[in-house]
Amino acid sequence: MKKNKLVAPVLKWVGGKRQLLGSLTPLLPKKITTYCEPFVGGGALLFQLQPTTAFVNDINAELISVYEVIKSDVEALIAALQDFTNESDAFYAVRDWDRDKEKYASLSNIERAARIIYLNKTCYNGLFRVNNAGEFNSPFGNYRNPNIVNAPTLRAVSIYLNTASVQLTSLDYTESLKDLPKGAFVYLDPPYDPVSDTSSFTGYSKGGFTRDDQIRLRECCDGLSSRGIKFMLSNSATDFIKEQYAAYHINIVQAKRAINSDSTKRGEVDEVVVRNYE
Ligand SMILES: C[S@@+](CC[C@H](N)C(=O)[O-])C[C@H]1O[C@@H](n2cnc3c(N)ncnc32)[C@H](O)[C@@H]1O
Repeated sequence: MKKNKLVAPVLKWVGGKRQLLGSLTPLLPKKITTYCEPFVGGGALLFQLQPTTAFVNDINAELISVYEVIKSDVEALIAALQDFTNESDAFYAVRDWDRDKEKYASLSNIERAARIIYLNKTCYNGLFRVNNAGEFNSPFGNYRNPNIVNAPTLRAVSIYLNTASVQLTSLDYTESLKDLPKGAFVYLDPPYDPVSDTSSFTGYSKGGFTRDDQIRLRECCDGLSSRGIKFMLSNSATDFIKEQYAAYHINIVQAKRAINSDSTKRGEVDEVVVRNYE
């Protein structure tokens, strides 16, 4: 399948891999028949590679639903997005839709997906953040000209999702990795081990990702290895993570820290790329 340059992330996502693609692609296996991404987020690598067979998962059901709507109803989604405006009052009114559980449950998948894309484009730093009650709580971003309706990208992603064989799921990553075909390649981009106690960002979904979760993830990677499945994993280059994956190949790459509420702390940070193959 020929790659379409318009296929790109439709959402800004914390830890998005867009600016790391140049470092990640040379480390991929030469040939990928089935691509699997259990923590897809914004899907920067998925949309860059545009594999013909893919298993795509994220525990964030709202996010996966956005991809499902792009796949099945992109024109209705584009039409729904036209209704939103980049104004503070409008932003907070739409953000509050999830405070009224009954009303929220009555929305269509298209309305919900449009809301997520709109909030993502207009909220501060494009942060998808929910509070303990699962309610979206990022503030208004006050950007001059956010691209709320990016129709060319939405249409291109829709064509990709319909042309390739892409299975979308919203499960815990372990579940999504259970039945993979032989020769599958797995790219894992989990919530990162915090580089300092204050840098921890755990707001992707209710509940965070603790060090015990990181250990559980490493055990899962060990399991992939023993099944003969190739994997590549990104994480922050903390001593803890380097110890966990000491048995594997580790490359250090530099990433720009895109999201930090303290702008003086935005700079280059080291990340690991772990692989169980040469
Ligand atoms: C670092 S982000 C992925 C970034 C992404 N690769 C990109 O390029 O934008 C991590 C993702 O893991 C998801 N996640 C967190 N816990 C999970 C779990 N137990 N199973 C599956 N996904 C999970 C979050 O919802 C989040 O979207």
